[in-house]
Amino acid sequence: MSITYAEESNVFTLETKNSTYQMEIGKYGHLFHTYYGRNIGDSTVTYLTRGADSGFSGNCHEAYLVDERTYSLDEYKQEYPTFGSADFRSSCLAIQYGDGSRTTELRYKSHRIYGGKYELPGLPAMWGEENQWDTLEIVLEDAHFPVEVTLYYGVLSQYDIITRAVRIENHMNEPVYLERALSACVELQDYGYDMISFYGRHNMERTFQRRPLYHGKQVVDSVRGTSSHQQNPFVILCDSNANEEYGNCYGLSFVYSGNFIAETEVDQYDQTRTVMGIHPTGFRYQLEEGACFYAPEVVCAYSGAGLGQLSRNYHKACQKHLCKSKFANERRPILINNWEATTFDFNEEKLLSIAREAQELGVEMLVMDDGWFGVRNSDHSGLGDWFVNREKLPNGVEGLADKVCSIGMKFGIWVEPEMVNENSDLFREHPDWCLHIPGRKGVYSRAQLVLDMARPEVREYLFQMIGGILDCGKISYVKWDMNRHLTDVWSGILPAERQGEAYHRYVLGLYDLVNRFTTTYPEVLFEGCSGGGGRFDAGWLYYMPQSWCSDDTDAIERLHIQYGTSFGYPISAVGSHVSVVPNQQTGRVTPLHTRGVVAMSGTFGYELDITEMTEEEKEIVQAQIRQFKEDYELIQRGDYYRLTNLEENHEYAAWQFVSDDQKKALLNVVILHARANAPFITIQVKGLREEETYVCKELDITAKGAAFLYAGIPVPREKGDYISFQFHFESL
Ligand code: DGJ
Repeated sequence: MSITYAEESNVFTLETKNSTYQMEIGKYGHLFHTYYGRNIGDSTVTYLTRGADSGFSGNCHEAYLVDERTYSLDEYKQEYPTFGSADFRSSCLAIQYGDGSRTTELRYKSHRIYGGKYELPGLPAMWGEENQWDTLEIVLEDAHFPVEVTLYYGVLSQYDIITRAVRIENHMNEPVYLERALSACVELQDYGYDMISFYGRHNMERTFQRRPLYHGKQVVDSVRGTSSHQQNPFVILCDSNANEEYGNCYGLSFVYSGNFIAETEVDQYDQTRTVMGIHPTGFRYQLEEGACFYAPEVVCAYSGAGLGQLSRNYHKACQKHLCKSKFANERRPILINNWEATTFDFNEEKLLSIAREAQELGVEMLVMDDGWFGVRNSDHSGLGDWFVNREKLPNGVEGLADKVCSIGMKFGIWVEPEMVNENSDLFREHPDWCLHIPGRKGVYSRAQLVLDMARPEVREYLFQMIGGILDCGKISYVKWDMNRHLTDVWSGILPAERQGEAYHRYVLGLYDLVNRFTTTYPEVLFEGCSGGGGRFDAGWLYYMPQSWCSDDTDAIERLHIQYGTSFGYPISAVGSHVSVVPNQQTGRVTPLHTRGVVAMSGTFGYELDITEMTEEEKEIVQAQIRQFKEDYELIQRGDYYRLTNLEENHEYAAWQFVSDDQKKALLNVVILHARANAPFITIQVKGLREEETYVCKELDITAKGAAFLYAGIPVPREKGDYISFQFHFESL
């Protein structure tokens, strides 16, 4: 059991392979955090719970009665800080009670420790066997009102993961209002940490950003109704000198696809607190008497060996304990998607011509993107009308699927279930089904409106319409897109005083629908997408094992996007395709080989008009497909190493995969600048065994692992823009 409770000291200790997490029940029942970091076994470090008689840091009532001015919630590290009592720092919980008051002060009530992993009704969460996980539930109660808060801790020792979630239960005989109900608080003893977060925009998601933490609050968040391109719900705190291989690193990944906040505060006593959860902006949840609210899961991970190990922990845990789809651990088909080739302008014959050509080169699946339904010849109309456009597909989706299957390929479709165009039959019939504020002129984005996913009839319609298409049994893949953010968030099924629940109920409704699809059609591979990588979060990955990483398919820009993505998410989740040059987003010209190298560090596929390729290009495509199939296990399931930091090394990018048994490795290198008389590049390979002998076939070098690890390999000097290399290492 990785969780213990020591009665004599009232201390809870959670142990993973390399970390210890500890907390104690204070003498007046508050739950204090004592330690999180490198493993310290079962030692108790309650001596770190220090207080001092500091001005303006108040004392709870019991402490006041005995004039104990050193007992202040404003100083102690806390497991679940609340608003209104003595702790003035970032809080997790703010409740407004029936009398209008807003103070909550939680005290220990009971706890429960058991094998296995807790579940969260209606929400995605990590999962696993009883012998893989341990759970601790600690029940706290407000000192004044009968409102209970249960803190969940799931321990996955093997990957140094501790998951967190919260249940809030109202035992009063009147409603209370949750104004802030975050999921986790992580306290660090001191300051001087860096924060790493992943910011961006459409066409440039998850850009790595590292900055020192300063006193006060630093916020990473989204109020766009979804996790967003702009900020990702994943942050890392690390030692200021931490790098890929060295230093303490703490990750927090939010298993949720809606509004979020990650707020870090360095306080007046130089302690560092990070809270994460649903964004309080726009949030106010009416909790009826007897009702409970679940705050979604946060996956915390620790590495004492740098950022590389932290990422590898997330990668493995996500593949084995987050993604529910059977495809999480199966080889996925190499696909060709017609979007960049045709946009809306296609018909059955065009798609079949792409399919035929692609099949000959080894591509395994055709994906028909946007434009096959309703009156959908541009993005101005058709969304919501999930019936086939017979002008483009006279034989229907099933007819086309039949033909694609008959040439030996699988077939997939694009959908955007959450949206509706005003110019659609659905909107004309049900104008009230979208999020809108009656009487107010609402915001349009890509000429579309957002359906209210909280409405059961909306979900039922979508399930029947899209399910009706999947029922033909010939569709192997669905790309689930979402192309605008939420505005005018007002739900026709909620009374005025409950409109603060609309954002969250949208997400719950969406999860309900997506769960229905993925469990009814387990043989269908679902890929997430939101104008590229706008919903690349752990919540969505629970349902769909991969997500289109970005609409920016430029290989060089993708290096940055995929680099940032790799910190928190596995390579097997990264939707990545080879596209045409000049690239449609940047105009840049990169070699086909390089586009292949970059796309292979993902799910791999093509997104271009393959019928227009030259014979020479087709040969390269064939070689790429052969190569990817050979390297599939290594790339999708191996250990991932970042060898360069793209924000610092502007000369070349290098990254690597190593098989679990360390017998095989693949090193990828992209040269970012063509230079005359270029300096020599030597790269130290990672993850090999020192004593084992390996051969690098591309360089024709046989050497001990130690030589490749420490002396490195010479990267050939070749002329050309953005050239790239793949080096394979195999143990003899
Ligand atoms: C945005 C996606 O990211 C693209 O790949 C494509 O599917 C378009 N939507 C279609 O509208």
